Amino acid sequence: MDHHDSGLLADRLRADPRVATAMNLLHEALHDVQANIVGPRPAHRDRREEYEELLARLAAARGAATYFPYLSSGLGRGPWVELADGSIKLDFITGIGVHGLGHSHPQLLEAGVRAALEDTVMQGNLQQHRPSLLVMERLISIACQQGAQLRHCMLTTSGAMANENALKIAFHHRQPADRVLALDNCFAGRSLATAQLTDRPQYRQGLPTALAVDYLPPMNAGNPEEAARLARQTLDKLLLRHPGKYAALWLELVSGEGGYYPGSREYFVPLIERAKEEGVLIVFDEVQTFGRLSRPFAFQHFELDAYADIATVGKITQLCATLYRPELKPTAPILSQTFTAASSAIEACLVVLETLETTGCYGPGGANLRRHDYFAHRLDELAARHPGKLRGPFGCGMMVAFTPGDGTAECAKDLVHRLFDAGLMGFVAGSNPARIRFLPPPGATATEHIDAAVAILDEVLGRWELPAAAAMTT
Ligand SMILES: Cc1ncc(COP(=O)(O)O)c(C=O)c1O
Repeated sequence: MDHHDSGLLADRLRADPRVATAMNLLHEALHDVQANIVGPRPAHRDRREEYEELLARLAAARGAATYFPYLSSGLGRGPWVELADGSIKLDFITGIGVHGLGHSHPQLLEAGVRAALEDTVMQGNLQQHRPSLLVMERLISIACQQGAQLRHCMLTTSGAMANENALKIAFHHRQPADRVLALDNCFAGRSLATAQLTDRPQYRQGLPTALAVDYLPPMNAGNPEEAARLARQTLDKLLLRHPGKYAALWLELVSGEGGYYPGSREYFVPLIERAKEEGVLIVFDEVQTFGRLSRPFAFQHFELDAYADIATVGKITQLCATLYRPELKPTAPILSQTFTAASSAIEACLVVLETLETTGCYGPGGANLRRHDYFAHRLDELAARHPGKLRGPFGCGMMVAFTPGDGTAECAKDLVHRLFDAGLMGFVAGSNPARIRFLPPPGATATEHIDAAVAILDEVLGRWELPAAAAMTT
């Protein structure tokens, strides 16, 4: 934003030379300390006791231990992060896809300082500031880049809430429809409604039924024609069984929590066109996919722009949002919340959107796809070196996964913890088979980081004894 000569006191503060000097000093200090982060490092022996105590207090406060013994020190460099025990890990899961520029990015430091100069920490629907407008306009312009008509944007604070808003917009427009179509294995969040959409019975155990959802069989790369035929057949049946009752077809174009299986245009288009014939709205849940493929939105990557009625983003965007077509604008006050986002999240979002573009992540030959190919190639090599311990498919773009051992949940959990101990952070995804996934930060991952991840994998796999049951099946 140009702050010169606006006549506003706020802009006078931002343009004050002392602010620029402070910013330079912060950059210098960060740069000097970060220079010490060059690779993995084990925990400091003399920090271990305090770290264990902090973790125990954390478990007590939240009512359960964390999945990993992870407590950040508050500093990192790209995909490297220092933990409070002094260890340095290669963070290839990034809070499940949140830290898209890695850790302690200098531009995010600046974004934080800009936010700190704002009059309030949080922005809200009743009171918004100029960057709120900018971020909404930026998300809309990115979403409409290839012809989608997602002209409105509602900010919010979680992916689940962005999805709640998407559901509300769809139901409101399609009233009295009260059902949703989704794909097997989908994940949409854990609010009452989105937990219903999420295809995991244990995530709604003990919860009342909040939503009627019917599922379609997903894409199967092993037999794509048959998968598309089955899905279309199921859709036809459901549309006949519940005429006029579906508000939305809910699509994750690359299944995230489901295990990093991409769909394809050939799979999606017949489903979408059939649903549209019945007036069913198409919702793209991009909370995990945004920023990770050849275009900012996965619907752009799969060239499904013309079909987009509603899209949601979150995680890497630092704030969450629901984008929708103007004709879906609700005619009753069904969308509002106290908070839209933190001032710092809004500044950070603007930086992330810009940096993913300017660092060449996108395009058919862009870094997201190139890094995927390189990572997949290196994983293929590992699969050959460690037979039975690792196999593809490996996902797509900056959503990388493999099946460990026999694909049981125990196998995946065991390996993911061994990798953590050795300095590489991934996470589990999917079931039958369970997978190990990586979400490397698109704005900070270089070949050297992928090589470092592969070196850790190689070393850990070399000494990993497959559980007995797994060894028998491989
Ligand atoms: C596809 C998808 N939708 C929605 C969500 C929910 O987002 P949040 O955890 O911010 O509520 C997630 C989170 O993993 C997701 O992957």
